[in-house]
Amino acid sequence: MFGKALLHKIWRGFASCGDREASSRPATLSARANPRLPPGSLRWPLISETLEFPRAGWLGEPERFIRERMDRHDARVFDTSLLGEPMAVFCGTVGHKFLFGNENKAVKVWWPSTVQKLFRVNTAGEDAKSLKRMLMNFFHLEALKRYTERMDMITQHHLDTHWEGRDEVRLYPMLKVYTLELACRIFTSTDDPTRVSNLAALFDVFINGVVNLPISFPGTAFRQIRSITMERKLALWEEKATPDQDLLSFLLTSADANGRFLSEMEIIDIILLILFAGHDTTRSAITLLMKYLSDYPEVYENICKEHEDVAKSKELAWLQRKDVQKMRYSMNVVAKVLRLMPPLTGAFREALVDFTYAGYTIPKGWKLYWSTGSTHKDPVLYPNPEKFDASRFEGSGSNPFSYVPFGGGPRMCLGHEFARIHILIFLHNMVTRFKWNLAIPDEAIGYDPILSPQQGLPLRLLPRRL
Ligand code: HEM
Repeated sequence: MFGKALLHKIWRGFASCGDREASSRPATLSARANPRLPPGSLRWPLISETLEFPRAGWLGEPERFIRERMDRHDARVFDTSLLGEPMAVFCGTVGHKFLFGNENKAVKVWWPSTVQKLFRVNTAGEDAKSLKRMLMNFFHLEALKRYTERMDMITQHHLDTHWEGRDEVRLYPMLKVYTLELACRIFTSTDDPTRVSNLAALFDVFINGVVNLPISFPGTAFRQIRSITMERKLALWEEKATPDQDLLSFLLTSADANGRFLSEMEIIDIILLILFAGHDTTRSAITLLMKYLSDYPEVYENICKEHEDVAKSKELAWLQRKDVQKMRYSMNVVAKVLRLMPPLTGAFREALVDFTYAGYTIPKGWKLYWSTGSTHKDPVLYPNPEKFDASRFEGSGSNPFSYVPFGGGPRMCLGHEFARIHILIFLHNMVTRFKWNLAIPDEAIGYDPILSPQQGLPLRLLPRRL
């Protein structure tokens, strides 16, 4: 398939990434005699290794890549080459604890360069900490109370418009529109469908182009959000918008702990980051939840019972926070889905200094990776790990690092409560209106790099009225 010269070039490119004597080796380390690097495959010609990682994802078992190498090399840490970078993979609960506990000390968050191009938000140091504290004021549970009713209204409207009266819906593409529309409305009060679908198309370009992002992409996405921001500034000035209306108003009118207001550029970057981080992850979680409920009718029945009770006891036409709090069984089922198929398969860090871990030297500048799936499928932590066991409470064990769909430590997902409320609201509206089953029962679902059901998971719908 490849010409010989091209193959040679690719081969050399990968191999030199993995050569421990190559230029990527940090100067601090070369000064030290015989560092004991983690065992792994960095010395091998890496074409197979580099392709094996996404391949395991396409096949719907991204954790297999990690677990096989834990068995082969060391169950605590091993090295490999991913995205053309020397990479140490930190495994299991001890690995998570180390990375989550050493943020901004030994390690910092790292994203591949294409992601950095789009999301230029400063992710390390004091400014980043202060920004995160500010955002947490918006995203903490009490503050989210006031968004519950709006989320429910948007969800009801979405189902009225796109689901009612239809026999079949392709779930995954449909949820793209819905989750992005909800995020745009809640965070920026944008309800113009053209703007939302432009953004949806742009984010798709981004996801598909993580390796080869078109040059114009960051500018186009940036311009979209910029015009929304400029309109809002004017509306605030003319008192047609309020400071607590949404995230955009909040960012335009709030100062951080040092009394500093964010620049327009910073605000646009944050909005882009939140819109992006928030919608595809939630879409994946909802997709899998609908699939598992179709596969496990007894769980679906229990869920229906819980939601019938909520529907009967709610005081308004819209769900309030206290209604969502009653959905305890559903919350537990969502937790199981996030354990079995976490929307994010892992995340990256970078070593800030040379340090020792599990007796090995991790060189400054190396990229590090932690994986959700390999821990969530660890049979020691979860006996019979593939089983969807509705009676087991996920994440309740003695080890807080055994259940990490939202990460942990200072970089833990900012939107985890928002996502939970959103998923439960969608679930409530689905089970109180429809019964459904999968049009293609054994449809393959992989990660590419986000969740990708091959046919978009079409659902057959039957109306259901309480
Ligand atoms: C089921 C849905 C979601 C899942 C599974 C998820 C998962 C994660 C994970 C694993 C991380 C940590 C990455 C790391 O360690 O570097 C993360 C970070 C983040 N998430 Fe989520 N997320 C979800 C929904 C959301 C939503 C709804 C929002 C926003 C509205 C959001 C915003 C963020 C942001 C801003 C970060 C970066 C935090 C930081 O670096 O300090 N996420 N998410």
